[in-house]
Amino acid sequence: MKDLDDLDVLAVDRSGMLGLLLDLPEQLHTGERLGQQADLPSAANIRAIVVTGLGGSSISGDLLRSYLHAACPVPMLVNRHYSLPAFVGSDTLVCAISYSGNTEETLGAFEEARARGAQLLAVTSGGQLAQMAGQAHVPCVQVPGGMPPRATLGYLFTPVLVVLARLGFIPDQKAPLAETVEVLRELGAQFRPGVETFRNLPKALARDLGGRLPVIYGTQDFSDVVAYRWRTQFNENSKVLASHQAFPELNHNEVVGWQGPLADALDVWVVLLRDTQEMGRVARQIEITKAFLRERAAGMTEVWPQGDSRLARLLSLLYTGDFTSYYLALLRGVDPKPVEAIDRLKDQLASA
Ligand code: F6R
Repeated sequence: MKDLDDLDVLAVDRSGMLGLLLDLPEQLHTGERLGQQADLPSAANIRAIVVTGLGGSSISGDLLRSYLHAACPVPMLVNRHYSLPAFVGSDTLVCAISYSGNTEETLGAFEEARARGAQLLAVTSGGQLAQMAGQAHVPCVQVPGGMPPRATLGYLFTPVLVVLARLGFIPDQKAPLAETVEVLRELGAQFRPGVETFRNLPKALARDLGGRLPVIYGTQDFSDVVAYRWRTQFNENSKVLASHQAFPELNHNEVVGWQGPLADALDVWVVLLRDTQEMGRVARQIEITKAFLRERAAGMTEVWPQGDSRLARLLSLLYTGDFTSYYLALLRGVDPKPVEAIDRLKDQLASA
């Protein structure tokens, strides 16, 4: 197995994914400014918010939904399809997020929202979505281009968050954003390649996960979205399969699957995403399940958040996963950036 403390392993990161990872706190800053400067859709009579997008763009919608679970007075839904649910109409705010601006499912949903008279906000680096928003006089947040969508979370998530605050759906976000930027800067420094494995959690975890199936467990309406992000970052950066689920739901189905043959055959390593503010009964469930899993998994790592605000806690857990997937790519000797399977599918769709 490669030695992550030998900095020669970085040579495989030919596209500079490390720089993009380290840039997340600064992206939050820029995203906040873009959100402050954005033209606003109308919030009058809005009874639901839908974020529509795919892949690395849609994760911002999931994060908003989880983060605002207890703060947003109207229901939020994340849509990942060409079409929208039947309830979407003039009393719905639809935020269409596509980093490239050319994802056909997102463009389809944008068009449908427009036809149904929904209030719209577009977030993109350009492409057809920027054009369509311009033609329809829809507020459009234009973010810097030229990066892999999954590495632009700060640009895509933060403007929508700030717009929702400016529209009065949620409280002002300056304080949690400021804390989150500080926490992520600190973590970025701790997770740098120059920091040895014995005091660098993502490096140590990547080493444990090498050749194994990562199974990531979060908790409903908080770190469930982060568990999903860990999984998709393992898919796209490290080019491996992974699985995720959330407490308490997993204790009502997935836990039984651990008694079957695949649990042994797949050599599973469990990552538990914990929180300092877990509900007491959920913490109890996690402790009971830990004892059960300890007898069945190859190993288990608990990851705890940093910071006080809900936003800092969520994004610190997410950032730890982003770095872990990066180091797992280096261990496997694969460039974290290219996603050939996705590019091939999009090319084939475009010519079909
Ligand atoms: C690539 C990636 C993908 C894209 C997805 C949608 O880094 O993460 O999941 O995000 O294919 O494309 P966009 O974001 O351009 O709408």
